[in-house]
Amino acid sequence: MCGIVGYIGTQKAKEVLINGLLSLEYRGYDSAGIAVLENNKIEVMKEKGRVSNLENIPGINNLSGTVGIAHKRWATHGRPSKENAHPHMDNSKNFAVVHNGIIENYSELREFLTNNGYHFLSQTDTEVVPNLIHYYFNNDKSDNTLNKFLRAVKNAVSDLKGSYALEIITPLYPETLVVVRKDSPLVIGKGHNENFVASDIPAILRYTKDFYLLDDNEFAVIYKDKINFYDVNLNIHNKEIKNIEWDASSSEKDGYEDYMLKEIFEQPTAIRETIGSRFRLGEKCSFDDIDISADYLKNVHKIYIVACGTAMHAGLVGKNVIEKLCRIPVEVDIASEYRYRNPIIDENTLCIFVSQSGETADTLAALRLSKSHGARTLAISNVIGSSITREADYTIYTHAGPEIAVASTKAYTSQVCLIAILGMYFAEILGSYPQEKIEKLKADILDLPSKIEAVLENNEKIKEFADKVYTEKDMFFLGRGTDYNVALEGSLKLKEISYIHSEAYAAGELKHGPIALIENGVTVIGIITNKDLVEKSISNIQEVITRGAKTLIITNQVLPNNNFNHVINIPETSELVSPILSVIPLQLLSYYISKNKGLDVDKPRNLAKSVTVE
Ligand code: AGP
Repeated sequence: MCGIVGYIGTQKAKEVLINGLLSLEYRGYDSAGIAVLENNKIEVMKEKGRVSNLENIPGINNLSGTVGIAHKRWATHGRPSKENAHPHMDNSKNFAVVHNGIIENYSELREFLTNNGYHFLSQTDTEVVPNLIHYYFNNDKSDNTLNKFLRAVKNAVSDLKGSYALEIITPLYPETLVVVRKDSPLVIGKGHNENFVASDIPAILRYTKDFYLLDDNEFAVIYKDKINFYDVNLNIHNKEIKNIEWDASSSEKDGYEDYMLKEIFEQPTAIRETIGSRFRLGEKCSFDDIDISADYLKNVHKIYIVACGTAMHAGLVGKNVIEKLCRIPVEVDIASEYRYRNPIIDENTLCIFVSQSGETADTLAALRLSKSHGARTLAISNVIGSSITREADYTIYTHAGPEIAVASTKAYTSQVCLIAILGMYFAEILGSYPQEKIEKLKADILDLPSKIEAVLENNEKIKEFADKVYTEKDMFFLGRGTDYNVALEGSLKLKEISYIHSEAYAAGELKHGPIALIENGVTVIGIITNKDLVEKSISNIQEVITRGAKTLIITNQVLPNNNFNHVINIPETSELVSPILSVIPLQLLSYYISKNKGLDVDKPRNLAKSVTVE
């Protein structure tokens, strides 16, 4: 949700800010704006829509200042418009602010400021922030030292309820850029005689690989040649720098037309890297990053897997794995539901949080809730140092590399893979599943990268199918067991990038109501990979064929000669990890349908990559 970038150094800030915004465009594209310190005043340029609209503003190329902040908006308060675009300034035009997050008490603060003579130009929650800073700055009668500026920022944020990552510049202290965060992501990249700020690492990876990950309620005063960190009481402290191994080119398109297609094709590598050295045949699974004892695990009565969207779908597959291998009950929860439903949690509950970004607001809140009830928490994330990983008791990382497209693909398959390895690790500690069967599963997992390559060879076939169905209004996805989990994910993918209404059902459930929706010509996609359920799944598909449905079947089984319209064959593997293969044709199908419809695959309407608001 929203993306922010900041720069202080010797280059033209505008160039770095625009490049950063382009990398962050997936975080929202309702409007874009920059503020640059130019001849002792703040120059703000902003526009509704995408970064390209901002780049076309006359005069923007004349900005030569070397300190600036920038913002990409995903609207929460106030419609997408130029006046609601960030940066926002205070009435005196001395403080410019960009903000990611939500100020929950902004109406109250707006009223307070209005009563103190301030007026507002936008409908946003953010505009209270520069004015509050001005209010505290003006009422501080001490000398004009930098501390006065920092104190004003601190007092202003003390009044805020909600979440924020803020960047502030002022011509009063032109050699500084001040940042602070709470519950919204913010990283600082260290350069040589220049420093960078962004919502996430890929946005500035082309400039540096050395990062500081700002903590909640931590402030930083950034100069071109140094960075000072302060705690909530403005006591200065040192901070550890982290070197990020990601290669800058891994966040570029690399010759692919879209990030999503690139990321689909990166799945063999993502799985290979996620497996890493976590197991070998004949050796027990191990995680450097966690140390869970048999005594602890034997007392775990229940595991929750909590996540949102695609990550939650990965959790559903993970439930099957853990329950089968460990015989511990697993409940999968949508984070936004879990946090408000008073779940039964105690010290014998293990709570696993799955999040590609590690910044999803509901997942983070669910983690905090679980900790407050004494549960142990384990994060599964793709982003090193993200908020969820910093708060969980244990973290294990998928090594999918940066995922830029809003529609999650390689993160999903990597999450499924990692949860399967975690399940094997637990089972080996508990001795709850025959070792030879675990070894078989390990062999299947090690074979996945080459099998994914084989699935990707169906690319053209899927494209042809997409050409036939892209004008449709509704589609249905059916499956049983893990195939149902994949059906849910396939349906989500189709909705989010193709804007086609779709439903996913457990195939056996169809006749309890939804079959009423099946009519002549409707497309039904069936996933059949569990050999024990082949006949039952086929019967369910026959029920829709009888009612006139056109069918596409994704299968790793030799099916009896049936009257399916299209069949995509994929390699066989353990049914516990088969979603890693069967989801790929569905990812490609959504991709090609979206392309056929001329939509923006990587940046679907109304969506943002990282949902950092509730
Ligand atoms: C996936 O295609 C979606 N864009 C979305 O459902 C996503 O998986 C969800 O918002 C969770 O994000 P996270 O993994 O970063 O927490």
